[in-house]
Amino acid sequence: MMNKVIILLMLSVLFFSCAAEDEPKLTPLSADEISGDRLWQRITEDSDFNNYRQWSGHEGLRPGQSPHGVLHKVFANRDIYDALPVTTGEVPYGSIIVKENYTSTKKIDKLTVMAKVKGYSPETNDWFWAMYSPEGEVMAEGSPSGCLSCHGGLVSNDYIIIKNIDEP
Ligand code: HEC
Repeated sequence: MMNKVIILLMLSVLFFSCAAEDEPKLTPLSADEISGDRLWQRITEDSDFNNYRQWSGHEGLRPGQSPHGVLHKVFANRDIYDALPVTTGEVPYGSIIVKENYTSTKKIDKLTVMAKVKGYSPETNDWFWAMYSPEGEVMAEGSPSGCLSCHGGLVSNDYIIIKNIDEP
């Protein structure tokens, strides 16, 4: 009897821990519907970005550069994560990368996000950029020249700085 209870307990722990980490496969956001608010909804309500994966070797809080936080955490959704290595130079539509930017006292200061949206901006590889307060208030969105000026230095890596997309 006791054994059965223990097994049941273990199974339910397993079930709930798996369920919590499950990241649903969603239809990519379209150019018609994309906005800072819609993207926030996507990374919180549709599929919580905390369930995204982190690049191997770049997990947890990492030191970062200005203008991003002095510390940061990067989350990549399954659309991009599962597509690596990418040899075409462009990650798939639906790809989302979320970066939490922290202060030196480890408080979340801002979130910066890039999302690949078909037809949104072909001349800049169809990336939609957004910056949010920790509560989800949109502070910048679209194709801000600031985001593009730095990340544009890495067009060959599809504007992505931390991860070489042609590596797994
Ligand atoms: C002054 C240069 C600069 C500007 C401006 C900038 N970034 Fe970045 N970004 C970086 C660097 C450098 C990294 C690598 C991580 C780090 O050092 O913080 C990065 C990393 C990222 C990442 C993680 C994905 C990756 O490329 O590795 C996202 C998402 C991101 N930035 C979004 C944005 C958004 C959105 C904006 C505009 C609101 C922006 N960035 C403006 C330099 C910049």
